[in-house]
Amino acid sequence: MRIFLIGYMGSGKSTLGRRVASKLGLTFIDMDHYIEHNQGCSIAEIFERKGEDGFRRIEQSLLSDLLEMEDVVVATGGGAPCFFDNMEWINNSALSIFIDPDCDALVSRLVGAKQKRPLIKDMSDSELREFVAESLKKREPFYSQAKIRISGRSISPADVINVIGYSLSEQSREE
Ligand code: S3P
Repeated sequence: MRIFLIGYMGSGKSTLGRRVASKLGLTFIDMDHYIEHNQGCSIAEIFERKGEDGFRRIEQSLLSDLLEMEDVVVATGGGAPCFFDNMEWINNSALSIFIDPDCDALVSRLVGAKQKRPLIKDMSDSELREFVAESLKKREPFYSQAKIRISGRSISPADVINVIGYSLSEQSREE
């Protein structure tokens, strides 16, 4: 079993992923932490030293490691599915779930959590709102390729576990 949670920064992928993994007896991996551990520095430092392009290359190469792991729930970085063929790779090897709260919920969570996110750290709250709305539009075509989408202001671990159960039962009916 390999479950990949995808979605925008602040969508709650890591909190949900950790809880879902513990309920299902799977290992939880936060992709950003995995990258930081592999590179020996923070995401912000990678952006500073190598720029966004350098970060995206590292992200893709470590994505391919993660897609070989078994019995994991992975919370991907918000941009990971939106570069190169990453979304196709994810769908070929994992059950992808798009965590999709509305734009207001994202902005209100991100307002207090800009610092560790280089793309938004210097923005005012109103710039942040505009940026989120615009980049969500650009990213939507990638996120919406996920096999499952869960939308709503508050998405719970139980919601995620229910859709996983449903998808597994559909899969076994097809086999
Ligand atoms: C990014 C999201 C971040 C991190 C990096 C870039 C993005 O992950 O990978 O700052 O492009 O949306 P989170 O979604 O965990 O914040």
